[in-house]
Amino acid sequence: MLDIQGKWVLLTGASRGIGRQVVGALADGGCRLILHSRKREHTAALVADLRARGLTVHALEAELSDQQQVVALGEEALRISGGIDILYNNAAIQADWHEDKFATIVDEYRLSFQVNTIAPITLCNLILPSMIERGFGRVVNITSGIKDQPELMAYAASKAALDKYVYDMAPHLAGTGVTMNLLDPGWLRTDLGGPQAPNAVESVLPGAMVPVLLEDGSCGKWFSAQDYR
Ligand SMILES: NC(=O)c1ccc[n+]([C@@H]2O[C@H](COP(=O)([O-])OP(=O)(O)OC[C@H]3O[C@@H](n4cnc5c(N)ncnc54)[C@H](OP(=O)(O)O)[C@@H]3O)[C@@H](O)[C@H]2O)c1
Repeated sequence: MLDIQGKWVLLTGASRGIGRQVVGALADGGCRLILHSRKREHTAALVADLRARGLTVHALEAELSDQQQVVALGEEALRISGGIDILYNNAAIQADWHEDKFATIVDEYRLSFQVNTIAPITLCNLILPSMIERGFGRVVNITSGIKDQPELMAYAASKAALDKYVYDMAPHLAGTGVTMNLLDPGWLRTDLGGPQAPNAVESVLPGAMVPVLLEDGSCGKWFSAQDYR
């Protein structure tokens, strides 16, 4: 397993839910952390706890529906770290449930694709070249196993587009020391997943760390966190 002690991480959506769980595992591994949320105050208590443990932690805020803020987030993370080792694209929004299976809510598609697809792809495209230059990197993009639910199509389609990015970019990372994979967390009780989800948020670990810790060169693969419980 990879030793992540001292590795620089940018993780989006660190304030709650799955992101917060993954932060715990990265902190236990001794990473240096750049934690994103929409507002710094959303990660303030977490940052204080982690700093009290002696960890290096920075908090950045960005509204991922605003492309300028996405770019600024990536650039600031690179400036702070001098080079990101682990990019964990976790933040996303869920579309509303539409009983009308044939509804095309244009604004919802636009917002879902900006936050769930364009923002993580932008961060990948900003950070991957420096990873390749330095010969090391781990990128994890959180996807979803959602299927056969046209009532949530804006969300589902935005995740499928992110999957396509990972699958088509992965061959171009061969031999670089950089890997990029997808992580399906399973249906979990979070603000996004809702209270009716069958799994506790804690069940995302240890699976969510597998694509970070693997040293077998796995790239362009789909990992299901619930397989590792
Ligand atoms: N929960 C599930 O059942 C489930 C299933 C499959 C896939 N997923 C995926 O897992 C990931 C995490 O989901 P979760 O359930 O942990 O979600 P969550 O509890 O709702 O947390 C969402 C996180 O993303 C941030 N965020 C939300 N909207 C944002 C925006 N417009 N701009 C910037 N940041 C934003 C939030 O920051 P603030 O606190 O600042 O708002 C928060 O940290 C997502 O990619 C989701 O699609 C979840």
